[in-house]
Amino acid sequence: MTQAAPLTIANLTAHYGKTKVLDDLSLDIGAGELVSLLGASGCGKTTTLRLIAGFLKPTSGTIRLGPQDLSALPAHKRNIGLVFQNYALFPHLSVLENVAFGLKQRGMSGSERTRAAKSMLERVGLTALGDRLPSALSGGQRQRVALARALVIEPPLLMFDEPLSNLDAKLRVDMRVEIRQLQRANGTTSVFVTHDQEEAFSISDRVAIMDAGRIRQLDTPEVLYQRPANAFVARFVGFENLIPLNVTARDGEMIEASGAGGVSLKLSQKALGEIPDDFILATRPEGLRVVAEETGLPCTLGLRTYLGRTYHYQAETAVGALTASGPLTQPLSPGDRAWLTPVAEQCCILPAEPA
Ligand SMILES: Nc1ncnc2c1ncn2[C@@H]1O[C@H](COP(=O)(O)OP(=O)(O)OP(=O)(O)O)[C@@H](O)[C@H]1O
Ligand SMILES: [Mg+2]
Repeated sequence: MTQAAPLTIANLTAHYGKTKVLDDLSLDIGAGELVSLLGASGCGKTTTLRLIAGFLKPTSGTIRLGPQDLSALPAHKRNIGLVFQNYALFPHLSVLENVAFGLKQRGMSGSERTRAAKSMLERVGLTALGDRLPSALSGGQRQRVALARALVIEPPLLMFDEPLSNLDAKLRVDMRVEIRQLQRANGTTSVFVTHDQEEAFSISDRVAIMDAGRIRQLDTPEVLYQRPANAFVARFVGFENLIPLNVTARDGEMIEASGAGGVSLKLSQKALGEIPDDFILATRPEGLRVVAEETGLPCTLGLRTYLGRTYHYQAETAVGALTASGPLTQPLSPGDRAWLTPVAEQCCILPAEPA
């Protein structure tokens, strides 16, 4: 097995023509770690992979794999295993030949190639299908051949670009478990591109949330989900309510903050962490409780939605429309006057956004 190597990307900027698509992107991936790039269409995920693979030249910045400066190597010398959405199998070669192809290029003898390819096919559960052509395989089987072909060269780095998006829902979940198991077993440093949050969170050691050619936060799925670092990431992981506030009084751990329309909230820094003078209070609907007592943000309730364990309410407040939750007992009705109280453990304090 090839020794796993860390991937270090520093200050990478890239253009297509005059358009900047990556903006000073830095990313450290540990040896054997799987990091996903997650973000909306066009944010620069594939471009990042193309730069690492050597299909595109950066405007500036460096890419190192272990001690090696990848920028100095042409694409075919970078020794990276690639798995794409459209499989890119050779249609005229059998499954076994497809898997063995990269080994031939690397000068391995015929019998050795066959042995290595067969053993890899066994690991991805395709032993019986070695003689078939790719056209005679299902989508999931093709994707497994693509995976075997990438793994068999024992690359120090594997890169996946939306490898599962052509598969149906059940197979996607099965395949992502398989990819994760094989990646773990081989200990191969990996970059996985997807725009599916559940996929990224379930398969990765850490996830980089990208937006417009930049990484907005790189953390474990748990930290991203519970402690987003900024409003962009917070929205991305479902903090629907983002309330801009500023501190008007401090009294020990307690602060008083006001927002648009003169609303005022008392918050505890003990529960929420240190609160700067200008901040955004972020909550999911579950973190904002609808109550009938006069405490918190006054609101007028709108649409009520039954969600099995709770109700969600649309609520009009002086700081805008918010989504809150309330208990199943004694539900309130559209048009009712009510109050919204943040549940501290389910809130995040985010830096204010530049106007
Ligand atoms: N060959 C190209 N020439 C010019 N612009 C390009 C080229 N390839 C990509 N772009 C642009 O660069 C930006 C980033 O593209 P990229 O393919 O990296 O996005 P992505 O994050 O992979 O998106 P998707 O989720 O849709 O695959 C987009 O605005 C895209 O239109
Ligand atoms: Mg892409």
